[in-house]
Amino acid sequence: MTTLYDAIGDEAFDRLVAGFYARVRTDDILSPMYPPDDWEGAQWRLKAFLTQYWGGPSTYSEQRGHPRLRMRHMHFPISREAAFRWLELMEASLEDIDEDTIPPAFRAQLRDHWERVAGMLINRAD
Ligand code: HEM
Repeated sequence: MTTLYDAIGDEAFDRLVAGFYARVRTDDILSPMYPPDDWEGAQWRLKAFLTQYWGGPSTYSEQRGHPRLRMRHMHFPISREAAFRWLELMEASLEDIDEDTIPPAFRAQLRDHWERVAGMLINRAD
């Protein structure tokens, strides 16, 4: 079976995550939550997680174990506003990538997944 990862390729994920983190670095809500001396590590972790989720190599689990995303995000103050901002920055990064590289049907799948996970990670009242 062809996975979304096979269909869009590893480089598309690199671009998505790089574009996302370039925005996070200067974001007033999100940047204070991220490790200032480990942007590359954070970028690696998100890319490895997403590629694994969409059928790519299972490097994330080999290196980090079970994702347990809700637990791993518990100590970050994730309000609805923060979750919305995360989604906005990912959307902006997605929009930088043309539709030949990531066709509309795949964009919809990626967005659905991000929205579901972001909603699940909200752990603070606004
Ligand atoms: C809802 C808003 C979100 C906020 C504010 C947020 C914030 C963070 C922060 C501050 C980190 C630590 C960076 C690091 O050192 O790796 C992190 C890690 C991570 N986030 Fe999020 N995140 C959000 C949503 C998401 C979503 C929607 C996903 C997946 C679709 C996701 C997947 C991950 C992964 C895989 C890691 C690395 C976990 C690890 O292995 O330690 N996050 N996030």
